[in-house]
Amino acid sequence: MVVAANRLPVDRVVGPDGAPSWQRSPGGLVTAMEPVMRDRAAAWVGWAGEPEPALEPFHDDGVCLYPVSLSLAEVKDYYEGFSNGTLWPLYHDVIVQASFHRNWWNSYRSVNLRFARAIVQVASPGATVWVHDYQLQLVPAMVRALRPDLRIGWFNHIPFPPVELFAQLPWRRSLVEGLLGADFLGFQQTADAENFLRACRRLLGMSIKGDTVTFASAAGQPPRTVRASAIPISVDFKGLDALARTPGIGARAEQIRASLGNPEVLMLGVDRLDYTKGIRHRLKAYEELLQDGAISPPTVTFVQLALPSRERVGPYRLLREEVERTVGRINGEYSVLGSDAVHYLHHSYPRAEMVAMFLAADIMLVTPLRDGMNLVAKEYVTCRHDLRGALVLSEFTGAWHELHQAFTCNPHDIEGLKQTIMSAVTAPEDDRRRRMKALRRQVAHHDVQRWASVFLDSLASAPLKPYRTTVSSERERRAVQRAQRANLRASDTASERVSP
Ligand code: ADP
Ligand code: G6P
Repeated sequence: MVVAANRLPVDRVVGPDGAPSWQRSPGGLVTAMEPVMRDRAAAWVGWAGEPEPALEPFHDDGVCLYPVSLSLAEVKDYYEGFSNGTLWPLYHDVIVQASFHRNWWNSYRSVNLRFARAIVQVASPGATVWVHDYQLQLVPAMVRALRPDLRIGWFNHIPFPPVELFAQLPWRRSLVEGLLGADFLGFQQTADAENFLRACRRLLGMSIKGDTVTFASAAGQPPRTVRASAIPISVDFKGLDALARTPGIGARAEQIRASLGNPEVLMLGVDRLDYTKGIRHRLKAYEELLQDGAISPPTVTFVQLALPSRERVGPYRLLREEVERTVGRINGEYSVLGSDAVHYLHHSYPRAEMVAMFLAADIMLVTPLRDGMNLVAKEYVTCRHDLRGALVLSEFTGAWHELHQAFTCNPHDIEGLKQTIMSAVTAPEDDRRRRMKALRRQVAHHDVQRWASVFLDSLASAPLKPYRTTVSSERERRAVQRAQRANLRASDTASERVSP
């Protein structure tokens, strides 16, 4: 199997002394795929996270990683621009304005073609190719054009927008055609799959029946059909649960509480610093609860972990400024000596430390305005083997569609959010335990291994039919085949990871 995602599971970072090192890449995609890859013989094609010349393939945790290089201009136009300035806001209900620029689109196309070429060089005959997320929506059709022998699946980790929003995209047709190069398309929610199918019908006049789209294929070939259905992603329940049960982690959770002055109520927020996550709404509700005198430090405190994200993209810079200003104001107004009202930590933490944080927190605040899934919510309940703790969860997350026993909130409704937080704080112990038990059962039965099996089974049972697109010429196909042969020789000797 060949997996392709914009990012490799590890990021190359260059320290202030110029020395390079590797760290885990941010975000839910990598969290979910890491345990899936561990059990399979697979290769991963992706970007190493910084503008750089091509790096050699290397092994990490038994997976062969094939870096795709991006120039500085491509990082700006393809990654920060089209992926995160056009698609990300458009696919998240335009919480911030989406920008449309033709040079961003051109860069997106050429980087997608680079990924497609890298994939076909790595894939052996008849291999399965699993493409991930919104950054690579043209890749399925490009790969199919280059290598019709491959079985191609695509999974979208974020929402797929309603056709009324998607229709704004000047390149909407190319994106749909790009995706239809796959044999099977997976989405987080049924509504996302339906939005995609509606786009096929409304914008390209294709015929839809149930979850299947049928469209004309190459001349003389029968029509092709592609299924688009919902397979909600999840976490490695067994692995995380086992980690949370290790005595060292329990002791660390107690240490964390002690370092915060052993508050009666410890609230926690854990997010990439992204405007979709509702961090500002959460802080507003918390500030008003302090203002109302409903809560106060040192009895209650709030820890917000904010994972640095897309720091050169305008709205992310503004969000960081606003969050940090708000935290400063709240602390100035409500902190007491020895006990801050908000502890704001703008760092990445190791897995074990995250688990200890989850175990330490009485109330987990998950308040996105829009989120394809939100794995943090599932991680929190997975870690709470003690059946303690309460999850406050936005109804605009994919996770909410499964985690019915959470304390539900609408983050836009600040008054309602305050009430939900207080309901979670004051809920009787047996109510919290009952809810947590049901939440844990749901995640245990729908873990990431099950997600991956359902996706790969659906892909394996998709009908394989010949398909031709206009994205490549015969000359390009021959060039790729030459490169493929050369690369197969090179990959035989792919080195273990060495410090570059
Ligand atoms: P997204 O994919 O949009 O970032 P998810 O909630 O689905 O959102 O996934 C986020 C992942 O990042 C989770 O696995 C979470 O534990 C991890 N994470 C969030 N904040 C941090 C942090 N400060 N340090 C380390 N990991 C983090
Ligand atoms: C979300 C997206 C991923 C992305 C991650 C981190 O989880 O679905 O595709 O990798 O955020 O974002 P970044 O832009 O840093 O890769």
